[in-house]
Amino acid sequence: MNVPSLDRVIVRSPGKVNLFLAVGELQDDGYHELASAFQALSLFEELTAIPSETFEISVTGDVDVSGVPLDDTNLALRAAKLLAERAGVGAGVHLHIHKGVPVAGGMGGGSADAAAALVACDALWNTGLHTNELHELAAELGADVPFALHGGTAIGVGRGDKLHPVLTRGRFEWVLAVAGEGLSTPVVYGELDRRRDAHRADLPIVPVLPRVDDEVLHALRAGDAARLAEALHNDLQAAAVALRPELKRVLEDGVAAGALIGIVSGSGPTIAFLCADAESALMVRDELQHAGYNALYAYGPASGTRVMSS
Ligand code: C5P
Repeated sequence: MNVPSLDRVIVRSPGKVNLFLAVGELQDDGYHELASAFQALSLFEELTAIPSETFEISVTGDVDVSGVPLDDTNLALRAAKLLAERAGVGAGVHLHIHKGVPVAGGMGGGSADAAAALVACDALWNTGLHTNELHELAAELGADVPFALHGGTAIGVGRGDKLHPVLTRGRFEWVLAVAGEGLSTPVVYGELDRRRDAHRADLPIVPVLPRVDDEVLHALRAGDAARLAEALHNDLQAAAVALRPELKRVLEDGVAAGALIGIVSGSGPTIAFLCADAESALMVRDELQHAGYNALYAYGPASGTRVMSS
């Protein structure tokens, strides 16, 4: 057993937006084959890991944290326990999370917490695991956890967990409109399957191996927000809007406020608006706030999960 030698480790992990999300057919394991382009955004989860005999968690936030589970279903707690088990660590840990990513919003906040817990506990317990091994544990915890470790901008295939970094130039400016109540990811995927089954004859064939449109990669490499706006796509958007029809209005209001385009982030219900520049993003945020929305500014790409201090 490794004896903890640090008295605390503080780690930061980013939320994300899917710039492109192509969803293939449902597989036997309950997951869909995906092709996704992720971008990490400057909304962060900050996790502090403190040595403890047992496993405990506490949560505060800049966002509403009332929906965060504090029991064994919490993904950060599961991450810490999984790492302890695999690395043969006998100790526990107290995790404190301060959330900056909207809860159940489709922005990967829970995945960021899990990535943060892996990195923090790895440092606290000095497990000596290789980065590849941490990545494997991350993929076991959830499809989006490896990207939260990695950060930046990346293509994800398979379940979304097999990552390839993408070249980008400059910064992209975003405004997030956060809806009050979260949407469940499995429910949104289920709605997509249901809609596909009901309308199969009228829909294009679902590709066995979905891929990200090259235009996304060109726009990212050119640092061209207007071009990227044309290329953004999310196969889950229609399902999320069907489950939450008021999202259509949110999408329209952001564009009317000056955004280049809005897109459902992941499985929603957060709407991500891409803006031409920082000045325009701040104006869009202010106008949406004025209209009564909970709107946040962020830029991307942000770096992945990092130890801030120990
Ligand atoms: O991996 P994670 O727990 O984040 O996934 C949550 C749910 O999202 C899965 O249980 C599944 O219903 C759905 N999902 C999927 N295909 C993927 C990723 C997630 O169907 N590639």
